[in-house]
Amino acid sequence: MKVTIVGTGYVGLVSGTCFAEMGNNVVCIDIDEAKVDQMRAGQLPIYEPGLELFFERNLKDERLTFTTSLEEGVKHGDVIFLALPTPPSEDGSADLSYVMGVAQQIAEMQAADPAIGYKVIVDKSTVPVGTADKVTEVMESAGLSRGEHFDVVSNPEFLREGVAVDDFMKPERVVIGTDSEQASDIMTQLYEPFVRQGNAILTMDARSAEMTKYAANSLLATRISFMNEIANVCERVGANVDDVRIGIGQDSRIGKRFLYSGIGFGGSCFPKDVQALHRTARANDYDFKVLDAVLAVNDRQRVRLAEDVVAHFDGDLEGKRIGVWGLAFKPNTDDIREAPSHIIIRHLQEHGAKVQAFDPEAMGTTREVLGDTIIYAADAYSALDEVDALVICTEWHEFRRPDFMKMHRRMKQPLVFDGRNVYHPERMAELGFEYYSIGRPHFAPTKEPAASLMDVDVSNEQPA
Ligand SMILES: NC(=O)c1ccc[n+]([C@@H]2O[C@H](COP(=O)([O-])OP(=O)(O)OC[C@H]3O[C@@H](n4cnc5c(N)ncnc54)[C@H](O)[C@@H]3O)[C@@H](O)[C@H]2O)c1
Repeated sequence: MKVTIVGTGYVGLVSGTCFAEMGNNVVCIDIDEAKVDQMRAGQLPIYEPGLELFFERNLKDERLTFTTSLEEGVKHGDVIFLALPTPPSEDGSADLSYVMGVAQQIAEMQAADPAIGYKVIVDKSTVPVGTADKVTEVMESAGLSRGEHFDVVSNPEFLREGVAVDDFMKPERVVIGTDSEQASDIMTQLYEPFVRQGNAILTMDARSAEMTKYAANSLLATRISFMNEIANVCERVGANVDDVRIGIGQDSRIGKRFLYSGIGFGGSCFPKDVQALHRTARANDYDFKVLDAVLAVNDRQRVRLAEDVVAHFDGDLEGKRIGVWGLAFKPNTDDIREAPSHIIIRHLQEHGAKVQAFDPEAMGTTREVLGDTIIYAADAYSALDEVDALVICTEWHEFRRPDFMKMHRRMKQPLVFDGRNVYHPERMAELGFEYYSIGRPHFAPTKEPAASLMDVDVSNEQPA
């Protein structure tokens, strides 16, 4: 099938590449010329595990091409995906200007050239309920007829950055929101190769599809905020949130996944999607109280570890050097949008600290935002040189089993604030570290840890 993708960010580029991998002929469009040049030259503009192989293969086989010309893309694709940004507006609602702007351009191009023929226009971006209807109105206002010249489909994307290729190639479900049988058939044909193991292609009306995406992200964010509240209470009553998590996760009604406490959720989706659903509810005379709490808890949680550091040093970090491990909002991505690490870093700096940080993939993206306000370490251990404390913000694999002896040697003092509960508190104390984590007991560190202890695995494995 001929497919066009408008917007080649984390969603558009992964979708386009995976559609090409299935044999489709894909044209990807972006307004960022430098990015398009980079992709044409065979370089990926983002870090996403597993993407490179498919990207290189399909670029070479010319099933995947890149352009800045929307017209080229509109002429090419039987199906045109809009994978455009929907950032939060000032009032928290989703900014639809990118999606509606491109929809308007497509409408004008199609109206001006009858030879372009029938297109399925797909909202792949996360968009508020009613957006498919708005896109339909734009097309109809240009004199185009639904069913004859176009149909609009809501096809929300559920991929997770870091495992996006796997998620796209084997989606747990595909949601297709449309009333048009014709469009639904085309979308089903396109997605069938991805669900050969029997996962569902769910067809529903567009409004329900749009709502499904917001409901999914908001429920996941709610789990995180709920577990963070449980963790905060655990600390106060002397319970261990790890044991509580395992205890409740055995209940099949609850399930084991997505129950980890930490320093709150970030990324380009959860914060903005929870806010946008809250706005949609309010615009429809409904006060969605749970979502207020989810956001308030998250705001508090994203700063609490930094507050713990400040409190440890009696409110003053002047002259203190703090190491940070992890800048990405989660492991296996270079995405730093809404990353808790950045909120923590700013808080530490406001209290006078100098920050030196390391992240395996997100140093470049962080530099674009924080510039030279922090020191970028060459590797994890260099980030520890002469630091008064280490703060762990992202649970990359390489931080799970470090050389603790080396850490002791390089840090000014063995003090660790772990925002991702990567290690066991008791073992860290035995290794001589003053160790603070989220929702778990604190143990006084052994004064002189035996060197033999340094070689033990203390990592507290947390599957993604
Ligand atoms: N990132 C995720 O994990 C994820 C997952 C599911 C859904 N989503 C949703 O998908 C949408 C896209 O997210 P993303 O993370 O891929 O965004 P992104 O910011 O990474 O990418 C958007 C791309 O669109 C391009 N663009 C902007 N205006 C354009 C225009 N007029 N024409 C062509 N290209 C244009 C930008 O240059 C950029 O490359 C959002 O609505 C988001 O909420 C994201």
